[in-house]
Amino acid sequence: MAQEQQPGRRTVLGAAVLSAAGAAALGPATAARAEEARGRGRELPVPLVVAHRGTSGYRPEHTLGSYQLALDMGADVIEQDLVPTKDGHLVCRHENDITATTDVADHAEFAGRKTTKTVDGVELTGWFTEDFTLAELRTLRAKERIPKQRQHNTLYDGRWQVPSFEDVLKWAEREGRRRGRPVWLHIETKHPTYFRKLGLGLEKPLARLLRQYGRHKAHSPNFVQSFEPSSIEKLGELVDCPGVVLLSTAGSRPWDFVEAGDPRTVKDLITPEGLKWISRFAAGIGPTLDLVIPRKADGSLGEPSTLVRDAHAAGLVLHPYTMRNENSFLPANFRRGTDPNAYGDAFGAFKAYLETGIDGIFSDNPDTALLAAAEFREKG
Ligand code: G3P
Ligand code: CA
Repeated sequence: MAQEQQPGRRTVLGAAVLSAAGAAALGPATAARAEEARGRGRELPVPLVVAHRGTSGYRPEHTLGSYQLALDMGADVIEQDLVPTKDGHLVCRHENDITATTDVADHAEFAGRKTTKTVDGVELTGWFTEDFTLAELRTLRAKERIPKQRQHNTLYDGRWQVPSFEDVLKWAEREGRRRGRPVWLHIETKHPTYFRKLGLGLEKPLARLLRQYGRHKAHSPNFVQSFEPSSIEKLGELVDCPGVVLLSTAGSRPWDFVEAGDPRTVKDLITPEGLKWISRFAAGIGPTLDLVIPRKADGSLGEPSTLVRDAHAAGLVLHPYTMRNENSFLPANFRRGTDPNAYGDAFGAFKAYLETGIDGIFSDNPDTALLAAAEFREKG
């Protein structure tokens, strides 16, 4: 049955992007997923705003303080990156190397845990979550990742712990009750193949927790995401939450493809055939913004690619990443002044990206993104 469109709000998945003719052209499984999605996304606006690692533009990332501020700002969805501990718990960190985002280096009792490892082909020296129990990690405090660029955020260094994913689920449950509506999460499995080889696979404990908290259904307020398509496929066998395949630069290769000897790169995945393949097991893609509007040689924005059109034709939504307000992260034509850490014309950049027809956007600055998205909907 067709769903009515609310003014200024479209469904998150499928309905915004699928015409009846388009749906008919898709395989039955994809069309069925899009159809199912029509009925479940009415709580969220399009384009939606995903608070990237919480409010990482204002608070140390992946802390309950960062997530709470995102919720208070009105972010539509709040992102968690997940890595495991030695005893199999999932914790919210962008990397398993916690050197830059915690005070672990100040803990003499953990000095001997400093080590060198190769993660997804990259050699790293530091302290790693898989060498700590959850109880040990709870003795650490989170700190700002880029203190030189975001000096204001260092005010909050040491205030919060590294949250476990279960802490976040409890927080979301509590806040959902308080607000009278669910807290949406966008949950990423980090380095899933690497951890599977260590006997610390991410998908099963994640699915177990989602089930335990009643978030495993197609209409539950979650997306699951990964740079490794096979992780989304595995999660699809365990839970019904919509999956989003993250796509890095065109020349890059998902690490599970490297390990499996699959020669395809992101360039292959963003062709109509590649997108059709993704649509067999995922509801969307999360491309880097440069795949949506490539930058010219001088760093300014060029012309939009055909990715939005092609992904929509395959029945996929797009949640690209990551918009940040500082000059150093913005396309050259939206920078203002010479201070790389000062804000540029972020609204101008948001407008350019939103006009491509994307369905959502990850941002370190959800408040700016929400204003930009609201303005876009009003004018659109
Ligand atoms: O998950 C979307 C975006 O966060 C991907 O980039 O490296 O920040 O996890 P990353
Ligand atoms: Ca992420």
